[in-house]
Amino acid sequence: MSTAGIHDLELATTHHVLDMADLAAARGVDPNKYLVGIGQSRMSVPAPDEDVVTMAATAASRLLERHGTEDLRALLVATETGVDQSKAVATFVHGMLGLPSSVRSVELKQACYGGTAALQMALGIVAREPSARVLVISTDVARYALGTPGEPTQGAAAVAMLVTAEPALLAIEPVSGLATIDVDDFWRPNDSTTAVVDGALSMGAYQNSLTAAWDDFAARGGAPIEQIDRFVHHQPFTKMARKAHMTLARHTGVRLSGAQMESGLAYNRELGNSYTASLYVALASLLDAEDDLAGKRVGLFSYGSGSVGEFFTGIVGEDYLAVRRPEADRAVIEDRVPVGVEEYMALHRRVLSSEEDAETPRVTRAPFRFAGIQGRARRYEATG
Ligand code: CAA
Repeated sequence: MSTAGIHDLELATTHHVLDMADLAAARGVDPNKYLVGIGQSRMSVPAPDEDVVTMAATAASRLLERHGTEDLRALLVATETGVDQSKAVATFVHGMLGLPSSVRSVELKQACYGGTAALQMALGIVAREPSARVLVISTDVARYALGTPGEPTQGAAAVAMLVTAEPALLAIEPVSGLATIDVDDFWRPNDSTTAVVDGALSMGAYQNSLTAAWDDFAARGGAPIEQIDRFVHHQPFTKMARKAHMTLARHTGVRLSGAQMESGLAYNRELGNSYTASLYVALASLLDAEDDLAGKRVGLFSYGSGSVGEFFTGIVGEDYLAVRRPEADRAVIEDRVPVGVEEYMALHRRVLSSEEDAETPRVTRAPFRFAGIQGRARRYEATG
């Protein structure tokens, strides 16, 4: 039987990084609240010339260097921190990468779930036209107001994934469990650059979504939980994935080991929340960390506040060791330049108005940068 799924992937993040111990000191909080209680070590902070578009283009350009654009039929970008109410992030990225006009470009949104919606859409395109390849990019900058409880759960990253038939990394199995539940747990009004969240409600909503999605998955004949070898859960902060794992064990009555989800936590702990990208950062973290995953089944739980949840599974490819790139992924994380809390706060406060022309300072070392605003339009350029 032919399969479809994730053939290869690439991570990108920001130029800067903030240490959570520094943030804790500045906020007068015991560092262990962030390091242990929330489970975050560092978080990515964008430079003035970086945003979701530059991260997306950076991740995708590295992927296309290896795979080219032949048979590429769609570029689907998921984000909940888009830069325009009309023009898709995908269309900016399409131009920056010089893709053929025969590639459709669309932006998808449903909070952090959008990346999984894009992946499912890509699988549908490949099922209809098996020679087609689809570029799926999840890209986000998680932003809460300074000094709020959400502040230590910020971060940023993009994951670009090439979705094809006969994929090398992860073949997605056909059964999905779904849960759409209308709830105001986390959202971002159109006139706000930061998210609004009811923290306790959001954690409960996440767990309700997980159990409802699991029940749908089980009712539709998804793999029994005993046959799922590893789990990656959406990670707004890594402690949330631990809570999800315990919730699933309690709900199914099956003893699950913490080791089944541990290696999926390493990268998110360093990058912080990346909303749509977070689940796929966790997948990269798992595939990079373990050497004996070939043929193993991974369960993935995608959650987007508001809310939509999906539980689905994939089988790791026999040749994944030849395709994964742990050194490159580590370099993306380690190459960030540290900032202190004062500089982080200045960057956080810096929001450009579309009504004034502006040029941004040259900071990023990424291959693309946000150059500024001209005539109310955002301008991007290659840095090389
Ligand atoms: N040492 C060790 N642990 C400590 C500690 C210390 N000194 N002090 C506190 N802790 C622990 C607490 O016991 C708690 O752990 P448990 O939940 O396991 O009991 C943890 O640290 C956090 O402490 P609080 O609950 O007191 O933290 P808080 O109320 O200040 O904020 C939060 C936590 C609500 C998650 C907040 O960071 C927030 O609002 N974040 C944004 C919302 C969010 O991420 N929600 C997740 C679900 S929604 C979703 O997933 C979508 C998305 O991406 C946003």
